[in-house]
Amino acid sequence: MARLAGVSSATVSYVVNRGPRAVSPETHQRVVAAIQQLGYHPDAIARSLRTRHTHVIGLIIPDNTNAFFAELARHLEEAAQMHGYSLLLCNSREDVEREGILLASLRDRRVDGVVLVPSDVHGGSASAELDGIPIVALDRVPPSWEGDAVRADGRAGGVLAANHLLELGHRRIGVIHGPLRLAHARERQEGSLDALRAARIPASDLVHGEAPFTYEGGQRAAHDLLSRDIRPTALCCANDAMAIGALSAAHALSLRVPQDVSIVGFDDVPVAAYTVPSLTTVTQPYTAMAAAAMELLLGRTDRNVRQDVPTVARVRVFPVGFVIRGTTASPTV
Ligand code: RIB
Repeated sequence: MARLAGVSSATVSYVVNRGPRAVSPETHQRVVAAIQQLGYHPDAIARSLRTRHTHVIGLIIPDNTNAFFAELARHLEEAAQMHGYSLLLCNSREDVEREGILLASLRDRRVDGVVLVPSDVHGGSASAELDGIPIVALDRVPPSWEGDAVRADGRAGGVLAANHLLELGHRRIGVIHGPLRLAHARERQEGSLDALRAARIPASDLVHGEAPFTYEGGQRAAHDLLSRDIRPTALCCANDAMAIGALSAAHALSLRVPQDVSIVGFDDVPVAAYTVPSLTTVTQPYTAMAAAAMELLLGRTDRNVRQDVPTVARVRVFPVGFVIRGTTASPTV
């Protein structure tokens, strides 16, 4: 191949293995053309034995049925591919024990790094590193976490959601929290409740409950709140799955959205634009968060990405946005 491309075998190796030495675009192109002409496929196993890198990143999410994580995984895979890596997706099913088993299995498969969405407030069995394999925490960052982390500003999101409903004139706002053992669920809760307090809505008037971050969790909590004698005119839900569950609860109780009850979500999953009516929600910056997680991780392990391996943990907190769609309007009662 080197002869066909008119370069040294070392140069071929630099191109094939994405080595540290830069080659000119023309040389790169000549090597790629020779690779194509000869139909060459590098042996990934032989290469990883030689380089001690598999170019595989493990991703552990807590719930593959939550569209937020599906979308996050899509963006992470794109970010990984941009750096020449593949993603190995695992689902911990919100189970700390299973998360530990998955981490051990990723270690045994010699992944180059792990992106972990912890299933537990304590980070489960995880620490910032697993036998030398770096781990970055994404989305949920346990208070005890000492490694690199990427998350969105949940508190600001809670404030945005509640303020939108207040500006529309709602005063009886039900807040459906996520599981409060999770730091990001608490942040969202605090944001919404602080905004309500700032608007001088007495705590006794607040109707709120805690529920799992699922369609069913949102449906049950919303059904409970909306069945009360004095029901809320609006619901602030801790994620989109819950908000979609709340839409179904309103429908079951023959309440019109948004005329009888307004609903706000959190995430802006792709389906949020297609519910009937479409969902007003807090938006999370998927692309930026995925790119940041991958850069923090590869910055510790990939000689092409890293400058100096950082000795301290880095935490990136991303701002959230807000999109007004069809599930919110001024109260009619
Ligand atoms: O854990 C579930 C929720 O946390 C997701 O829906 C998303 O909001 C994430 O941040």
